[in-house]
Amino acid sequence: MQVFVILPAAGLGTRMAGPQPKQFLALGGIPILIHSLRTFAAVPRVTSMYVAVRKQETERVESQISEFGFAGRVHVVEGGEKRQESVANALSALPAQPDDIVLVHDAVRPLIDAATIERTIDAVAETGAAIVGMPAVDTIKQVERTAHGALVTATIPREFVVQAQTPQGFRFGLLQRAFAEATADGFVGTDEASLLERAGIPVAVVHGSQVNLKITQAGDLELAEFYLQQRNRH
Ligand code: C5P
Repeated sequence: MQVFVILPAAGLGTRMAGPQPKQFLALGGIPILIHSLRTFAAVPRVTSMYVAVRKQETERVESQISEFGFAGRVHVVEGGEKRQESVANALSALPAQPDDIVLVHDAVRPLIDAATIERTIDAVAETGAAIVGMPAVDTIKQVERTAHGALVTATIPREFVVQAQTPQGFRFGLLQRAFAEATADGFVGTDEASLLERAGIPVAVVHGSQVNLKITQAGDLELAEFYLQQRNRH
């Protein structure tokens, strides 16, 4: 059984003001994307990694990959307009068998740790599909969007909610089937698990951590620097 990793890194990062997409910003002096690659590369069961980037970023990413010593183990593919397209492009480049495992990880979650990756692989090997999730600590409201903001329509009991993180892992055959069904129906999701859910495939949850944050908006980078310093101190 092989384990492939897909890192969608073709987003524009429009929610964070700045001259370049967030996956290329430096964290502790190293590009955000490289942090994730390093952690996955350190997991012995990982066979190879595929990074989806915008065409104009290909050269930059390829030179970073060789600079940090990943040449041969990391492949660059072209991303798409939507995250789902970026992942689909990487999927079609994988030399995988139906029983192999594919982990998809947001390139903008640089603080993923090896133990969580290992737990996700174990859960996928056992159940076929598993995602990293965090129990909700806030009270969750369902709302209706209005011209002036939002109106609460219901409270969703917290015990029924987890916040989906990545990695999200699947048997290659199941992921391919879910992507094919989504494409046929024109469905676009914000993560891979949503495609399996609508295909009726059960998805298990592995415990995540708040350190595995997604660098999305101003302030997130500073918080990630803090977590990184804490980690390096131990
Ligand atoms: O946009 P979102 O926050 O969901 O982005 C999550 C990840 O998906 C990021 O690493 C981003 O670079 C990637 N992405 C992509 N292709 C897109 C949009 C987002 O690879 N078209």
